[in-house]
Parts: sequence; structure tokens; C-alpha cells
Amino acid sequence: MCGIFAYLNYHVPKTRRDILEILIKGLRRLEYRGYDSAGVGIDGGNNKEWESNAKSIQLIKQRGKVKVLDEEVNKQQDLDLDIEFDVHLGIAHTRWATHGEPSPVNSHPHRSDKNNEFIVIHNGIITNYKDLKKFLESKGYEFESETDTESIAKLVKYMYDNRENDDISFATLVERVTQQLEGAFALVFKSVHYPGEAVGTRRGSPLLMGVRSDHKLSADHIPVLYRCSIIALIHILFTCMSICLCLCFYYVAYSAVIEHTNRVIFLEDDDVAAVSEGRLSIHRIKRTVGDYPARAIQTLQMELQQIMKGKSSNLITHILTLGGLKDHIKEIQRCRRLILIACGTSFHAGVATRQVLEELTELPVMVELASDFLDRNTPVFRDDVCFFISQSGETADTLMALRYCKERGALTVGITNTVGSSISRETDCGVHINAGPEVGVASTKAYTSQFVALVMFALLMCDDRISMQPRRREVIQGLRVLPDLIKDVLNLDDEIKVLAEELYQQKSVLIMGRGYHYATCLEGALKIKEITYMHSEGILAGELKHGPLALVDKLMPVIMIIMRDHTYIKCQNALQQVVARQGRPIVICDKDDYETAKNSSRTIRVPHCVDCLQGILSVIPLQLLSFHLAVLRGYDVSRINKLHFSISSL
Ligand code: F6R
Repeated sequence: MCGIFAYLNYHVPKTRRDILEILIKGLRRLEYRGYDSAGVGIDGGNNKEWESNAKSIQLIKQRGKVKVLDEEVNKQQDLDLDIEFDVHLGIAHTRWATHGEPSPVNSHPHRSDKNNEFIVIHNGIITNYKDLKKFLESKGYEFESETDTESIAKLVKYMYDNRENDDISFATLVERVTQQLEGAFALVFKSVHYPGEAVGTRRGSPLLMGVRSDHKLSADHIPVLYRCSIIALIHILFTCMSICLCLCFYYVAYSAVIEHTNRVIFLEDDDVAAVSEGRLSIHRIKRTVGDYPARAIQTLQMELQQIMKGKSSNLITHILTLGGLKDHIKEIQRCRRLILIACGTSFHAGVATRQVLEELTELPVMVELASDFLDRNTPVFRDDVCFFISQSGETADTLMALRYCKERGALTVGITNTVGSSISRETDCGVHINAGPEVGVASTKAYTSQFVALVMFALLMCDDRISMQPRRREVIQGLRVLPDLIKDVLNLDDEIKVLAEELYQQKSVLIMGRGYHYATCLEGALKIKEITYMHSEGILAGELKHGPLALVDKLMPVIMIIMRDHTYIKCQNALQQVVARQGRPIVICDKDDYETAKNSSRTIRVPHCVDCLQGILSVIPLQLLSFHLAVLRGYDVSRINKLHFSISSL
């Protein structure tokens, strides 16, 4: 999980100071994607001749946050910051380590050799890097880092050194390199052999290009055709982030780009975008018949507003609309089953709403982890409707599962937070949850909004069913009062902070519940693991006697979720089992549930809401707990999303 950012100015003079400021600012916008190290690659040299400066590349890399890199940049004594570049490409990266510990040498950009002939920034994972490394080492290349990315930098030099003719283009070299790569990547290359040129490419990781020209572009919709159409460009920016975490993409990519331009091109998998002498061309690596890569330049603000209009939702009295689904709802009603596919927190939103979806749609509902769904080659049919839930809209496994289901003819529906993301573009229809950018590592408000969006979809599916109307009204009323109830739960913050003070030195915490709250257990445990680095496990209370009870004793912290719904009696039994093993359960329960309180060592009382929405309230104490545990355990909560719930925009 990393962020990459590149900036090219073409005949628009910029000082080295300006360029570094732009790169650092771009990185700051992407920093939540990775923040254990950062680096930039720029032209070195200190004379005013662009050509000779461009013959050396300077790398500045640091362990730590972008702020540390910024300080390091300002310490560079051998670099004249006032020198002006007429044409210049700078590339920058913020890293969340996957291969190799955070350190300057493992930070990006990675280089081909000690002379920095080629440098590259990468987001993603190269799965065959060990084979590439072995091959390159056999050819005499010496590796300095533990990363997968370094093999790309060396490989491009190998291709260059072994070129068959001298005028091979930078784009062709990169095309050759990408043909050897397996895995997921978004890459931007810079080279002393191709001064002032940039090449970016992607497969499985998003990459967005911002385009700014001081010449008015001739049309709003400019196709960039295979090796031919050319646009005069003044500034080009590449930006990307990924992963999985996943967290959120294009909103933030937008924010890195939008201060320079609102005109962007979304690159597709296997596009190689090259800028040479101010001209852009987009090549396809694996071109199939009829595959001409017409890539429209899109104007962001307009796009955002238009797409939002199409895919947003409204809740007015009992009439409910989901703009991006309304034309497909009849088709969905005729389907044979619903399959919800996602990863991590987004998967939990599917688990949380499965029961109400089954109840209101009367359809079988499968909830699938995207990676496992693909591993199993799960049978999918034309009369299935497959939902892809993803905050970022870019998570690789979810995206691959989407393509898999499309190939099998299923109708595909996106539930994303990111307008313009791959999932949003590639699904047949969908809902934008409009939760606003997730700027922290942990997805919180997106969970709430995905949850609400799926409940609203269930309501929409039964709006013409007379027998369902009383239940519909109950759920809609629940949605109306939810914002106030959320505020009430947030008022428990001080109480939860005290609980965190009691728990923060523990090694582990178990979270148990069932029915609507099984998802809350999974999600609470994920948040605790992810941001506090404490072990935590979400356990289905119905499974306690099948093994997990063995973990319970007077020392093991246990949190139970017991709400007054159809599982209440069964949860009381689970509570008895925990107490019988000398456990001292902390129970999240209804505000006035004094019965449960009697058997608990502590209670966290939350307001009551309609059963199928109660999970939106019961997860908040766990989100707050993970936040306070992280602070107390000394982790940097500035990288953790401020809990913030936005359902009013749905
Ligand atoms: C946890 C978290 C991850 C993401 C998962 C899927 O806080 O953020 O578990 O939920 O990586 O990401 P999206 O929803 O972007 O597909």
C-alpha cells in the first residue's frame, strides 16, 4: 500500500524548490496510503543547462513520514534550489513496507545502478520478483534493497543495455519490462537516457494522469489513440494509490491532482502512457483486435457532480430512490441469488446486512471474501446479481472478482465511495455511498455508509410488496432516527477511554456476539488488530462451545454484544458460559437492559434501534476503543481516521 506521484513541467520554467514543493505536497495528499518512508527523484546538477542537469538524477529518500523527507530535502547543501528547469520530471513515493523493512535503501524511487540511469516508483506487488532477481544477478546486476521493486529498475536497464537499436523509445522499453512482470503494479519511470520524458503504466493498481495545458485543448473529449494522436501538454501528473486498503483512492488521487488541473485521464490495465517532447501517447501492451485505447480526458468537477447525481440516493418520506440502480431494479428482482463480494471491512458490511437482505428480498444471499471466491472458482450464472462493495473501488481481489462475474454474464452492481474508480466504472450499475474521503488507514464511516446503502437497497427491492410494508416503515423510521442515536453513542467516548486505559496493556481481546452482531465482532476485532497491533478475534457466540470457550478465563478480556433482538436468549446463554469459566465480560447492551448488567463486569449501554440497524450503533464503541487503545499503545493516530459518520448524505 503506497502512494505514487509524478510531476512533469514542459517549457514552463520551475525552480528546483518549486518542483520539490509540488512533489512533497503531492505526497502529503497520498500519505495515508503509506507513511513509513518516502522519497523523491529529480534532476541533479547545478548548472543552468537543462540537458546537462538531466544527465544526472538525484535521489532523496528517508525513513519516516513525508515531513521527515521534507526536512531532509531542505538540508541538501549540494543542491541549488533556485536553479530553474524549463523541462523537468520529478517522481515521488510514500511507502507502506511490504518487502523489506522501512529504511532509506528500501524506499522508492528504486534505481537501476549506482549512476541512477533509470529510476522507478511502484505501487503494488511483483509476485515473480525472485525469478527476475535471480536472472538479473546472473547477468551481473547487484541488488541493494530487499524490495520487489528494485528488480523493475534493474530490468529496464537490462532491456536498455541489450536493445537492438539505438533509437528505441522509452515507452517501448517499459512495454518490454511490463511483459515480464507478474502481479499488480502502477509504475512511473524516469531516466537520464530520456531527459524530460515520463512513462507510466498500470496493471491491477490504479493510475490517474492529470493534464494541464496553457493552450486550450480543442475538445472536451480527446481520444488518445494507439501510437498516433498527440496532445500538446504543459504539465503532466501521475498519481496513484492502492490497496487494498485499501483504503480510498481516487478521491485522494484527485486531491493530489486537483490543485494543478481538473482534467484527468484514467489509465486502464496494460496502458503505457508516455510523455515525450510534451506529447502524450498511450500504447496498449496486449492489444487485441478492435482494442483501440481511446482514453477520454475527463473534467473532474463536472464528472463528479454528474456521477454523483446518477448514483446517489434519497430517502424522502417512504419513497426511496437509489439513482444508480433504479433502471435495473426490475432485473435485479428477477434474479436467482445475490452475491456480495468484498474484502476486509467492506466484507463485514455485507455480513452485517445479509440477514435484512434475505428478509426483504426473499432471495438467497451469499457473502464472499473476494480472494476466496476467486480461489474457489465459484460457479456464477447469468441470473445472478453480484455486488462489489469497496470503499476505494480499486481493491485488486474485488476488481478481479468483478471481471470474473462479468465474464460469466452476471449483472454487476458497485457499492463504492470513489467516483471514477475502476469498480464504479466497470460495474453495470451501482450506488456511490458519498461518505467523503477515508483519509485514515482504518475504514469507519465507509462501513457505516455501506451498511446503510445495502439496507436501502433491500428496502427498494420490496417497495411494491404489500406484506413487507410494516417492516419497511419500521426500518425507514430507524434510518431517520439513526443520526441522533449515533451522536448519543459518540457521547460514550470518555467511558470508553477509561475502558481502554484498563485494557491497553493486554495481549489479546475476544469479541463475541451473534445474529446481526456477528459482523460487529468481526469488524471490531479487525479495527483493534489493524490500528492497535493487539491481537483480537471476533467470535460467533453460537460457536463458543465448539472450541473458543477454552480461551476464556479470569484474565482474558472478553467483550460481548448482547442486544434485545431475536438472539437475546441465546446470547444470555453464551454470557452464562463465559461467567461459568470465570470470565469477566464487558458487555455492549441496550441502555435499559439491567438483567444483562447483573452478569457483566462492566456494561457499555447504547440506545435501542430497529434490530437490523443496531449494528451501526454497536460497532461505534469498538471503533472508539480501538482509537483509544492505539493512542495509549503509542501509535500514530494522526494516520487513523477520525471517527466521523456521514449518513445524512445518503
Ligand atoms: C480496514 C480496511 C480494510 C478495507 C479492505 C477493502 O479498516 O480499511 O479492511 O476495508 O482493504 O478495501 P476497499 O473497501 O477499499 O475495497
